[in-house]
Amino acid sequence: MVKVAIIGATGQVGSYAAHAISQIPQIKEVTLFGRDGNQQYLEGLSRDLVDSFAARGTNTRISWSCDEKDLRGSDIIILTSGVARKADQSRLDLAVENGKIVASFAEKIGRTASEALLLIISNPVDIMTAVALKYSGLPPHRVFGLGTHLDSMRLKSCIAEFFNVHVSEVHTRIIGEHGDTMVPLWSATTIGGIQINNLPAFSHLPKDKIMERVKTSGSLIIRSKGSTVYGPGDAIATVVRTIVEDEHRILTVSAFIKKEVHDIGSVCIGVPARITRGGVFPVPIKLPDDELEAFRNSTETIRNVTRQVFEALEERE
Ligand code: 2OP
Repeated sequence: MVKVAIIGATGQVGSYAAHAISQIPQIKEVTLFGRDGNQQYLEGLSRDLVDSFAARGTNTRISWSCDEKDLRGSDIIILTSGVARKADQSRLDLAVENGKIVASFAEKIGRTASEALLLIISNPVDIMTAVALKYSGLPPHRVFGLGTHLDSMRLKSCIAEFFNVHVSEVHTRIIGEHGDTMVPLWSATTIGGIQINNLPAFSHLPKDKIMERVKTSGSLIIRSKGSTVYGPGDAIATVVRTIVEDEHRILTVSAFIKKEVHDIGSVCIGVPARITRGGVFPVPIKLPDDELEAFRNSTETIRNVTRQVFEALEERE
């Protein structure tokens, strides 16, 4: 039976993720973490969730805490804390500000819950994953970020809509940065098992328009309603289910790569990874030249900002 802690549970993504993951049968307990001062909110949130579970017939136990020692014994920790991205702000602008928050939680996790798997949601997620990896001291296969999993889902629904097929018939992937330099893998996209470029209608697919929509989806939702909630919340639940059921599914998450993609390494970035109860393992892949070049460009962008954030964090010490 599994215990999950959500840090930043008072935020909208954290709250909805708590609800979504509580429906996974193996999860016995979800602990909602918030900053000191948020006790009343956390008490209200946990009671609201308990009511929901009674209505649904769910038996998950909900607890809450503002004390790091209660992270002890967690199997999975989901870190959603951070300053929210404003609609006109790039994810990279957030990097140093959120880096300080993530580094401080990662140190606590390293001290109190070093056996856990740590899933990072805070943006810019690839850089925050690198920060969490460094400051927690956990091994790379136990620290990973939501990465381009949600972007891949956004692309999947655009393709399904164009071809007028059920979303489950579409397999596709976006790798690289969860941000402007993300890379769609058309070479790894199939519909009903058929390579997408073997379908005559593929030549009419407005690929650039679709990618623009995928890239700007987060900002549009933030501008319209303040934050993205259900998309990331259910994407988190998919990743958590894959872990607790030890499914060995391949999802596109932000993971530390060594040499798995054409020897490009030492960076946390969205790549296909096999997800198990024991952790997250990037799958070695080969890419066609155009996708490889775009991926290299994306890794360079992330590597540079990661370096700048690390330098800024070192000055803090
Ligand atoms: C998203 O893409 C805001 O990064 C968040 O939904």
